[in-house]
Amino acid sequence: MKPALFTSYSLKNITFKNRIVMSPMCMYSCFNQDGKITDWHLYHYASRAMGQAGLIFTEAAAVTPQGRISHEDLGIWDDSQLDGLQKLTRTVKENGSHIGVQLAHAGRKATVDGPIIAPSPIPFNDDIKTPDEMSEPDIHETIKAFKNAAERAIEVGFDVLEIHAAHGYLVNEFLSPLTNHRTDSYGGSLKNRYRFLETIIKEVRKVWDGPLFVRISANEYEEHGNKIEDFIQLASWMKLDGADLIDCSSGGITPKRPHAFPGFQVPNAETIRQKAGISTGAVGLITSGIQAEEILQNERADLVFIGRDLLRNPYWPLKAANELNYSLEGPKQYDRGWN
Ligand SMILES: Cc1cc2nc3c(=O)[nH]c(=O)nc-3n(C[C@H](O)[C@H](O)[C@H](O)COP(=O)(O)O)c2cc1C
Repeated sequence: MKPALFTSYSLKNITFKNRIVMSPMCMYSCFNQDGKITDWHLYHYASRAMGQAGLIFTEAAAVTPQGRISHEDLGIWDDSQLDGLQKLTRTVKENGSHIGVQLAHAGRKATVDGPIIAPSPIPFNDDIKTPDEMSEPDIHETIKAFKNAAERAIEVGFDVLEIHAAHGYLVNEFLSPLTNHRTDSYGGSLKNRYRFLETIIKEVRKVWDGPLFVRISANEYEEHGNKIEDFIQLASWMKLDGADLIDCSSGGITPKRPHAFPGFQVPNAETIRQKAGISTGAVGLITSGIQAEEILQNERADLVFIGRDLLRNPYWPLKAANELNYSLEGPKQYDRGWN
């Protein structure tokens, strides 16, 4: 029988050829600090397509220049970035994979010049400046920036969108009671803290009818942070508002580091999948085909996101196939050395 890892998966109008997703990973390679695709990005992503990942996510692409983690971040805030992005989607698709873009705003974790913004003026740590509290117009403008980015994503041919609501960046900062001390309709109750993300999802949905993923940090590792019950509720709302899949990462809202071990975030993907009735992606220290197969066969997640092991080995899918005794088709040009 074909391993679950190599079965196709459909969401909306797209069928992924397998369940292997390249997790978004910042490459800090926009060397001119203009958010534009460089040759590095083309080689990097194309090689993972040749390696047969079903879906390849770009690194976080900033929806505004102020929302970059660093000056070298990828951007999708300006039409001058479209040519490069189009070249990227074409290159990945030509090599047989689907491609998604992660739409992001770094919020209080931005290390760019000029003011940085967040729901509340609380710094992340002593090394990063204190953010300005966002005004209502700031909030509306930023939501619009996500929508504009979605329109650009359509123009250049991305297949999937992922909203980055994890790792302590802007959207996560609205969700968490640790970083959102607002007293207006964007702060206070869980429903209010969700309003920013809710509006982004709804606005993006007005222009985007393809698969929409949301990456969350499903464990904040803090006594007074959001808990799994909160994320079950949030995922249920996201589903109603138009999200198709919740990509379950964790941490990053405070400097506290999680205790990481193989598959440590998988239980969150499993719980949210069961309790909120929405597709999930599992990520975090998943390094073998057998581990990925266990997650899928036990219905703990629908897709498996691979990060660092795909940096170490662009042919990770072939390694996984060999472990699962499956004969994976590769690029025709590589026939003599593939299996
Ligand atoms: C170099 C690097 C850059 C990353 N950049 C992003 C990013 O842009 N967006 C994101 O959501 N996660 C980012 N991550 C987290 C990964 O997507 C992934 O969730 C994490 O590495 C855990 O998976 P792994 O154990 O398979 O590497 C990054 C991780 C690495 C190693």
